[in-house]
Amino acid sequence: MTAETPSSAHQRIPLHIGIIMDGNGRWAAQKGRSRHAGHRAGVENIQPIIRAAADMGIKYLSLYAFSTENWRRPSLEVQGLMLLLGEFLDREVDTLIKENVRIQHLGSLDGIAPQLAEKIRYSVARTAHCDRITLCVAFNYSGRQDIVNAVKSIINSGVSAEGVTEQLVSAHLSSQGVPDLDLIIRTSGEWRLSNFMIWEAAYSEYWPTQVYWPDFTPQLLQQAIDDYGKRDRRYGGIGSKA
Ligand code: IPE
Ligand code: IPE
Ligand code: MG
Repeated sequence: MTAETPSSAHQRIPLHIGIIMDGNGRWAAQKGRSRHAGHRAGVENIQPIIRAAADMGIKYLSLYAFSTENWRRPSLEVQGLMLLLGEFLDREVDTLIKENVRIQHLGSLDGIAPQLAEKIRYSVARTAHCDRITLCVAFNYSGRQDIVNAVKSIINSGVSAEGVTEQLVSAHLSSQGVPDLDLIIRTSGEWRLSNFMIWEAAYSEYWPTQVYWPDFTPQLLQQAIDDYGKRDRRYGGIGSKA
């Protein structure tokens, strides 16, 4: 076996992981508890996974917390989810700063109650100097709407059609400054993107697991990263094993 160079070792670790945190409702149902209890358990699992990801050397972690389609849910459930995000930010931002975690918001603040929108803006501003890991929180997020907004903002900036490039579109998404996704984990056994970072996912590797989000563990995160390291990312070419 040949010794691994630092650069090849680095390639085995994804730079950017996205997690579609699904299955809170089914986790609660199997325990005879309310959906809200499931969401609460889901939120409690966020901090340990951020910490584990940072310890494993992940530089960008994107979490899908609330899609624009989730507004279709009963209003009590939606209100509960809004409340939980507010509580999470109130409770955890000081710890995130201590742990050097920068927060970036993905999606739109339109339609979110002013008090919660302010908490999100404030958390982003307070953690702006942190640089151990960037935590992108996709909240009130739609991948398609994010692309539409990018197109609008490019047009408003006066760029000519010839000036539009993939890099320019990326720079106008709410994930601006964040590299494309290397690996997407989805919990709860569903195999779909549900409008999550569809532009940034163009060449992502997928890792679905049956486990519901509240039961997702750092060990499973490690397993996903280990499996990622064995994938041959060909990008349309013939790959390194050819
Ligand atoms: C994920 O859990 C959390 C959000 C989508 C906000 P779900 O609430 O979708 O849980 P299931 O899919 O109903 O089990
Ligand atoms: C995706 O989960 C959104 C989040 C995890 C926030 P959903 O539960 O909303 O997705 P679908 O409806 O099953 O596709
Ligand atoms: Mg779901």
